[in-house]
Amino acid sequence: MSAQPQDGAARAAEPAIAMSLRSLGKDFGARTAVHAIDLDIRKGQILGLLGPNGAGKTTTISMACGVVTPSRGAVLVDGVDLAAHPRRVKAQLGLVPQELAIYQELDAVQNLSYFGALHGLRGAALRQRVDWALHLAGLTDRAREVTATYSGGMKRRLNLAAGLVHRPRVLILDEPTVGVDPQSRNHVFETVRELAREGMAIVYTSHYMEEVEQLCDQIAIMDGGKIVAVGALPELVAAHARGGLELELEAPAPGGEALTRALAAAAAHAELARDPARPQVVRCEAPARLAPLLAAIEDCGVRVARITSYQSNLETVFLRLTGKALRDAQEGA
Ligand SMILES: Nc1ncnc2c1ncn2[C@@H]1O[C@H](COP(=O)(O)OP(=O)(O)OP(=O)(O)O)[C@@H](O)[C@H]1O
Ligand SMILES: [Mg+2]
Repeated sequence: MSAQPQDGAARAAEPAIAMSLRSLGKDFGARTAVHAIDLDIRKGQILGLLGPNGAGKTTTISMACGVVTPSRGAVLVDGVDLAAHPRRVKAQLGLVPQELAIYQELDAVQNLSYFGALHGLRGAALRQRVDWALHLAGLTDRAREVTATYSGGMKRRLNLAAGLVHRPRVLILDEPTVGVDPQSRNHVFETVRELAREGMAIVYTSHYMEEVEQLCDQIAIMDGGKIVAVGALPELVAAHARGGLELELEAPAPGGEALTRALAAAAAHAELARDPARPQVVRCEAPARLAPLLAAIEDCGVRVARITSYQSNLETVFLRLTGKALRDAQEGA
């Protein structure tokens, strides 16, 4: 994911690349879901994959774990090509799907034993991994209860355990905390961090900006089947967004024509928030644009009710790069 190391010393300091996506792409008939993306994920790294609906995240993840056959490009795990050695490579991959993929009529031990066996684990090694995964998921106490009786959060934690019981090198999580209570969410976070500390490479898709900000040391933003930016959060903020002033407009008649005109006029000088929950807000990044912006709004007979300053964060970067608010992107997910 990062720039190529410049010299031997830098190369030695960088953890090894666990997974490489090379010019990876997918067409569904005439529609290109993913163009040709390049991405490296290093050992111990938590990579956040963010993008609005239809950006191509699920298609990318599905190709990365061998569920969808790419139209072009390759997936390498520890340098081994997934297409050439599917069994060997898939043994190194773990997927935690967004939909629950556990057998609710079985208990946690039975579920994890089943998934472990699918990956070729047997006997004492299997039992050891099952215990390990139960412990990670915080389910040791409830391990012998039928999972249909679990809370939503417990089922999610078991779903996570099922994806990692074979201790893959690369763990891919698709929206693992949707609909999860805060306690279970923290547990998922802690588990992911612990696995990364142990050297597992993690790919984490989420619509929750705070999650990605808190958890991920690298963030890749996808839009329209392409990766439009990749880097650590401070790098992305520095490269793609600055703070500025936020102006909240107040129309003489709410929702009236004057406001529409003012927003259209403001668009020449500022960025519209494009957040459906806050349609009357415009953002001005450049101080030199403030005076003409205020004049343009006033000319339409619209008042500025409030001016506040805002700091750049992942939301601002996302908005700048995709033209969509994350809250928008979250809808229908
Ligand atoms: N099996 C399929 N057949 C045809 N088109 C598909 C198929 N799967 C995905 N697509 C299309 O590919 C594009 C990318 O979809 P994908 O599901 O990868 O997006 P996503 O980023 O995961 O979106 P979301 O946030 O809504 O889950 C979309 O236009 C989608 O309609
Ligand atoms: Mg998806």
